[in-house]
Amino acid sequence: MVSLTFFSSASSLSSSPSKIVKSSLDFELKKLGGCTKLVRNVNLEKLKNNYLFPEISRRELEHVKKHPNVQLISLGTGDTTEPIPKQITSDMSNFAHALSTVEGYRGYGLEQGDKVLRKAIADTFYGHLHVKSNEVFVSDGAQSDISRIQLLLGSGVTIAVQDPTFPAYIDSSVIIGQTGNFHEATKKYQNVVYMPCGPQNSFFPDLSKTPRTDVIFFCSPNNPTGYVASKKQLHQLVEFAKTNGSIIIFDSAYAAFIEDGSPRSIYEIPGAREVAIEISSFSKFAGFTGVRLGWTIIPDELLYSNGFPIINDFHRIVTTSFNGASNIAQAGGLACLSPVGLKEIRSVINYYKENRKILMETLASLGLTVYGGINAPYLWVHFKGSKSWDVFAEILEKTHIITVPGSGFGPGGEEYLRISGFGRRDDMVEASRRLRSFFNTRTKHFPFLSSASNTN
Ligand SMILES: Cc1ncc(COP(=O)(O)O)c(C=O)c1O
Repeated sequence: MVSLTFFSSASSLSSSPSKIVKSSLDFELKKLGGCTKLVRNVNLEKLKNNYLFPEISRRELEHVKKHPNVQLISLGTGDTTEPIPKQITSDMSNFAHALSTVEGYRGYGLEQGDKVLRKAIADTFYGHLHVKSNEVFVSDGAQSDISRIQLLLGSGVTIAVQDPTFPAYIDSSVIIGQTGNFHEATKKYQNVVYMPCGPQNSFFPDLSKTPRTDVIFFCSPNNPTGYVASKKQLHQLVEFAKTNGSIIIFDSAYAAFIEDGSPRSIYEIPGAREVAIEISSFSKFAGFTGVRLGWTIIPDELLYSNGFPIINDFHRIVTTSFNGASNIAQAGGLACLSPVGLKEIRSVINYYKENRKILMETLASLGLTVYGGINAPYLWVHFKGSKSWDVFAEILEKTHIITVPGSGFGPGGEEYLRISGFGRRDDMVEASRRLRSFFNTRTKHFPFLSSASNTN
């Protein structure tokens, strides 16, 4: 087995590879066929943790190898499972077929996205909020736009994130060079402000204790906690950003799951156009995790300190590093936003909501403390006094169910598991059966089983 662990420790940042024991290096060189003279990007060296989902996949593979005959159920990575409604796939397939005709062939499109789709996004999601088509940038998914926005921001800015948080904000921040090193003791990167969001503050940061940063990543409904911010809370956030001259990167990837009237867009808050970018996605909304389509809104009023419009720079970023989303995916996106498409998508979302309800009832009936889940596909389950990777491993070993350890989302996620309602109904029912059987027999050994509650 080839081992290059000596390149990845934080302490090796300041030590040159020549310090590596030579005999060991010779051995590695023979195995790998030699090294180039390229020095590894120091920012990538700083990335301390394996990215959460690949690490879960690795453990999943290991488990399957160990138990080849079990039926593994994933309540884990949050991928969608239900077929895309026919209306949408047939529009994509018609578009794809037309590409083999002279009349229907299309080459490069506009880097910012098809004009008709940009207008449909503006009208469907922001009709009453004065977002203009020219402010909509169609993307190949929110994840890519998180990185493109980091490219826009550069290495010189400071960021704040909810803790726990979707890992891509921090990892992209490390990669672009905005952070210092990772500290093992605190499980935090230097120069990142972690805003604790837990039951102690109704999952909304205490802004009176939050230091100023240039940028605030804010996800609502939040992945992983499943918690949605209220209008009043988002007012506070926008005011906080205005007072500090910060910008908010608002991630609304799960907005379609909101059912209690909480804001689906940051632009529902007056004044947000001057301080916020919004990123969003067709992935969870329409089952496009594999098709790949999303969008970003940059309002005209959003300006740098020198008065230069940020939207102009984002145009430059997408023309330089993107070239536009697939035109087949965009045809699908347009079909999603037709009246029939929207109706069909709604029924798929309701399916996942029913799944989530089944899981929520099961977990609550077992005496576990469950948060989230009302306005999001995710349940955030508290295992007081436990390490989340330990609970993950125990549940995997005994029930063959994949969950997500909360600590993978930041230090504030320790003691929690994220459980997802994305999945087939049969799997939800079977997972509930296994969890009941496991926890009922394990109660004596799990001190964290306390009174049931649900807060959101
Ligand atoms: C909060 C959040 N933002 C962005 C993404 C990425 O979305 P996409 O599939 O559009 O890249 C995810 C995916 O799970 C997510 O949970």
